[in-house]
Amino acid sequence: MKVTIYGSGYVGLVTGACLAEVGNEVLCVDIDPDKIERLQRGEIPIYEPGLERMVEENSRAGRLRFTLDPAEGVAHGLFQFIAVGTPPDEDGSADLQHVLAVAGAIGEQLQEYRIVVNKSTVPVGTADRVRERIGQALAGRGVQVEFDVVSNPEFLKEGAAINDFMRPDRIVVGTDNPRTAELLRALYAPFNRNHDRLLAMDIRSAELTKYAANAILATKISFMNELSNLAERLGADIEQVRVGIGSDPRIGYQFIYPGAGYGGSCFPKDVKALERTARDCGYHAELLGAVENVNERQKQVPFTKLQQHFGDLGGRTIALWGLAFKPNTDDMREASSRVLMEALWAAGARVRAYDPVAMEECGRLYGERGDLVLCDSAMAAVDGADALVVITEWKEFRSPDFFQIRDSLNEPVLVDGRNIYDPAQMATMGYTYYSIGRGPRQPG
Ligand code: UDX
Repeated sequence: MKVTIYGSGYVGLVTGACLAEVGNEVLCVDIDPDKIERLQRGEIPIYEPGLERMVEENSRAGRLRFTLDPAEGVAHGLFQFIAVGTPPDEDGSADLQHVLAVAGAIGEQLQEYRIVVNKSTVPVGTADRVRERIGQALAGRGVQVEFDVVSNPEFLKEGAAINDFMRPDRIVVGTDNPRTAELLRALYAPFNRNHDRLLAMDIRSAELTKYAANAILATKISFMNELSNLAERLGADIEQVRVGIGSDPRIGYQFIYPGAGYGGSCFPKDVKALERTARDCGYHAELLGAVENVNERQKQVPFTKLQQHFGDLGGRTIALWGLAFKPNTDDMREASSRVLMEALWAAGARVRAYDPVAMEECGRLYGERGDLVLCDSAMAAVDGADALVVITEWKEFRSPDFFQIRDSLNEPVLVDGRNIYDPAQMATMGYTYYSIGRGPRQPG
């Protein structure tokens, strides 16, 4: 089948590569000439395991192509996927200008029946606005062409996006036209095997499903973070509480890991946007506001622990392991590491940071500055620092040489923002060890 995808960012590229992988002819359209040129050369603008190989192989096979020309895009695919960014506005609502610009471009060029599939995370009601925008462009041209607009939200986790696309838990298709649902069922058939995972529903429910999924996951995390702060004050161990509640299948073990807060491109943005949507229709979504507030407070916890230990942090040097908002990505959007670094800088401290893949991204975000040293290795970051903070649970941080770290630090202070180490072991090795929701441990 022929597919056009607008937006060669994270979602668009993964969708394009995976649809090409199973034999479709995919054309990706983007407005950034530099990006398109690089993609045509086989260079991937983002870090996502497995994606580069997939783009390269499918491009070579001629199933995946890139263009700047929307006219070519509209002419190519029966399916016209919109996968452009929806960054948050100052007020937290999703900015739809890119989505509507694509809708306008489709309307300008439309010659025959097309299915416009919205993959971008957009507020409930956006499909109606997309339809309206295409309709206006057609009216402007004085022509009538049939088209459908479908909501097909993505549920891709960064770092595991290819697998999530290839083996989805569910494929949500929001449409008011049963025939369109069947065409999408055919497109998704290679990913919908063994049992039916395609959920056809009305458009608004599909749009809301995406926000509901991210909001409940964020809620689970904020709930656990709230409890972790309580556990500390009560002398309880949140990790034992976690297992204790996770064993109930109604609660489950997933997404109840306490830590230094959630980041990334989805949770913070989507929780805010949903809260904003609620406000726009006159409803005060109290729980969503609390989820967001708890998360912002939680991102401050590692800094607070350092401050409680050292008092004044002016002139101190802190080693930081992990910059990406989570392992297996170089994405630092809304990362807890940023909140920590910025708080340390404001307090007059220096940071020696290391991350397996996000170093370049960090340099891009913060540039050259005297109070940030980007180190070549985890061990180099620790060298001569007053304390070590682990903020992203990369695999290579799980079992480091604790003796060497202890000897490299001015003082053996370790703040574990993801609870990846064993408090008893840390205490035996002479560390003053702080973690999340497990109380401080003195050496002993
Ligand atoms: C998320 C959703 O999982 C995905 O389905 C959706 O399409 C996009 O948003 P992503 O942002 O890539 O994906 O990351 P995810 O793995 O969900 O982690 C989000 C954040 O939550 C990370 O900062 C992570 O460290 C944090 N987290 C996750 C916790 O603090 N505790 C947990 O138990 C789980």
